[in-house]
Amino acid sequence: MKRKFLFVCNFKMNTVKKAEYKKALQKDVYNNLVLCPNFCDLKEYSSFKKSNSVMLGAQNVSEYANGAHTGEVSASMLKNAGADFCIVGHSERKQNNYETLSQINLKIKMLIDNNITPIVCTGESVARDEEYAVRFVLSELNEMLKDVDLNKVIVAYEPIWAIGSGKVASVKHIKSVITTVKQYTGISFVLYGGSFNQSNYQDITDIDCVDGALIGGASLKPDVIVQMIQKTDIK
Ligand code: 13P
Repeated sequence: MKRKFLFVCNFKMNTVKKAEYKKALQKDVYNNLVLCPNFCDLKEYSSFKKSNSVMLGAQNVSEYANGAHTGEVSASMLKNAGADFCIVGHSERKQNNYETLSQINLKIKMLIDNNITPIVCTGESVARDEEYAVRFVLSELNEMLKDVDLNKVIVAYEPIWAIGSGKVASVKHIKSVITTVKQYTGISFVLYGGSFNQSNYQDITDIDCVDGALIGGASLKPDVIVQMIQKTDIK
């Protein structure tokens, strides 16, 4: 059986008009596409679940169930809005919002309790060799995934230096880091993220151990996403 290659689109704090995705998706089925718009657009985008079998993701969640947490959104609220997945521990949140690994661990548990699959982000900030990257990733995962059922999470390996920089990691680097991380942890589903786009996607979708991509910039162009999915024969 062919493996499935998941395209996870992280719009970040950008608006992509629903009509643009509707035009690109047409009436086709995309059961390997996850769209992660901002909180406000989740409900609107949830109609693609029915029309195109697209799955829905959020970009963050509170570590608390409810209560006096102004500005936060709980996992059960995300579930009600239609979220199947939620990105957690993105490097932008770790850097700009000072999210800690233990906080991310609580968020992951909250998502699992609400039947939402966490997409747990990790990656080294400095471009160095594979051994350095593996050591960094394993130490982050060790804390973020403490007492978590590993069958219920997806990991996204996003080297920070590759995010939004146009500098994609080499095939050798991606392959070596993801294979080793899978071997050491037993995690079975790992995405790659960082400047994934129409000029490099074929090299990356060809790597056996990569189960999908977490896509930032390119996800703002629905036509590009649809073209990449259609030209990738692993569905
Ligand atoms: P880019 O694809 O823009 O590099 O962003 C990657 C990312 O951060 C996805 O979460």
